[in-house]
Amino acid sequence: MTAPVDRTTQPWWRSAVFYQVYPRSFADSDGDGTGDLGGIRDKLGYLELLGVDALWVCPVMRSPMVDGGYDVSDPRDIDPLFGGLEAMDELIAEAHDRHIKITMDLVPNHTSSEHPWFTAALAAAPDSAERARYIFRPGRGPDGAQPPNNWPSIFGGPAWTRVTEADGSPGDWYLHIFAPEQPDLNWDNPEVAADFEQTLRFWLDRGVDGFRLDVAHGMAKPNGLPDLAEVSTKMLVHDDSDLRFNNPGVHDIHRRIRKVLDEYPDAVAIGEVWVDDNTRFSEYVRPDELHLAFNFRLAETAFTSDAVRAAIENSLAAVGPVEATPTWTLSNHDVEREVTRYGGGAEGVARARAMMMVELALPGAVFIYNGSELGLPNADDLPEAALRDPVWERSGHTERGRDGCRVPIPWEGAAPPFGFTTAAESWLPIPSQWAALTVEAQLEELGSTVSLYRMAIELRGVRKEFAGPDIEWFGCPADCLAFRRPGGLVCVLNASTAPIALPPGDVLLASARPEHGKLPANAAAWLV
Ligand code: GLC
Repeated sequence: MTAPVDRTTQPWWRSAVFYQVYPRSFADSDGDGTGDLGGIRDKLGYLELLGVDALWVCPVMRSPMVDGGYDVSDPRDIDPLFGGLEAMDELIAEAHDRHIKITMDLVPNHTSSEHPWFTAALAAAPDSAERARYIFRPGRGPDGAQPPNNWPSIFGGPAWTRVTEADGSPGDWYLHIFAPEQPDLNWDNPEVAADFEQTLRFWLDRGVDGFRLDVAHGMAKPNGLPDLAEVSTKMLVHDDSDLRFNNPGVHDIHRRIRKVLDEYPDAVAIGEVWVDDNTRFSEYVRPDELHLAFNFRLAETAFTSDAVRAAIENSLAAVGPVEATPTWTLSNHDVEREVTRYGGGAEGVARARAMMMVELALPGAVFIYNGSELGLPNADDLPEAALRDPVWERSGHTERGRDGCRVPIPWEGAAPPFGFTTAAESWLPIPSQWAALTVEAQLEELGSTVSLYRMAIELRGVRKEFAGPDIEWFGCPADCLAFRRPGGLVCVLNASTAPIALPPGDVLLASARPEHGKLPANAAAWLV
């Protein structure tokens, strides 16, 4: 029999359950309607009960909050909105007391347009050292009135904005793959890398256990910034043929980052890597680059056994060649919540519960987005006036953006804001229909989604049957899948429309109660 995962010799992150906190929406401790670090600290007891190993805290550095904190004006300070540096120190200390690790989101690809570097760049002359930290270019056409190339911004509109020079004349253009308030840094400039290293050390020295690196496939730009062959106006999408991302130079950047992290033996770097090709994806998790990279296949997959199996096989194949650790996630702050993706309503919840059990049965690191454990759906009917995602404005009000998956967590009580804040209103309104989904309503309820998460996370952590780095597929009825871990755990998913007979063994946990030895449709079970 294979031994259980040895957490004393394996790096902690290899089998960790990470919980992604979207701080604005988690819990508000100071009554301004927006969540903050004090709010996370207040809820550490809940997170400990849930059983997660580590938090990934979305950006809390100083920011004008044009893109929810992914526009950073000082990477080595915490925004007062979230409680300042002191609140971060307190969170780190108290989380560590409870054996919960803290990983922070850092944004190496761009800064805020209010970063002192960018204000200095705007004030300086074309071709100055100040501008060389960003990507400034003259425009095309006789009077430079056309952008330097045809790249669109991920948030809509062109990826270039023209500046006005000190004498009032129209000047060069700067690149922003995201919003105009998020100018891209020039990673060919050694000052940029040196500054980022300083940021890494700043937080590691304060006790942070690692980082999620935003747009980790984006920092290197192609030589000469050539035009895209095809320009898609659809927002928030890019693929492997997209010149703006995944350029070979990015790997040198990751090697430099890794060298710093290696000075802090337990620290982890997790990259946001939207790359489909398995070979190219695996390059990011070579032994001297990122420790982990997000694989988004499960987060993009529909609820069919073929699609889920293909996503699992692909994700394993993407790390296999370099012996890296697979990662699993059903959703995050950029995509539709899984309950909605699987069809919504009771069926969507049942499927999301089943998929959580599939994900937690797999070898590797798991990322749970806050609210998934409550079975929250997307809030797709937020009033237009409430929408905050820059996508809404940039698309001329044709795409609503990502606010629907960023609604605050309902904690308790019968009416919004459900204990999230003491303010009358939360920064995004919480649907009143979520009364039955609050933490309070679910915590003592054995059949609730939060209880299922708690049991699943606990079993995954303590049972020896979860050991082993891979899976073996089992035969099973149509529209179902089954796999076995070397340690002996069998996971069965019924994505068909009828109950199926379970294989022999004892049911350790099921997302819906088996009846007469049969697993209902839209359910998963663990057997030993
Ligand atoms: C990443 C983040 C997303 C953000 C973008 C720009 O994709 O996950 O929320 O808008 O980077 O920083």
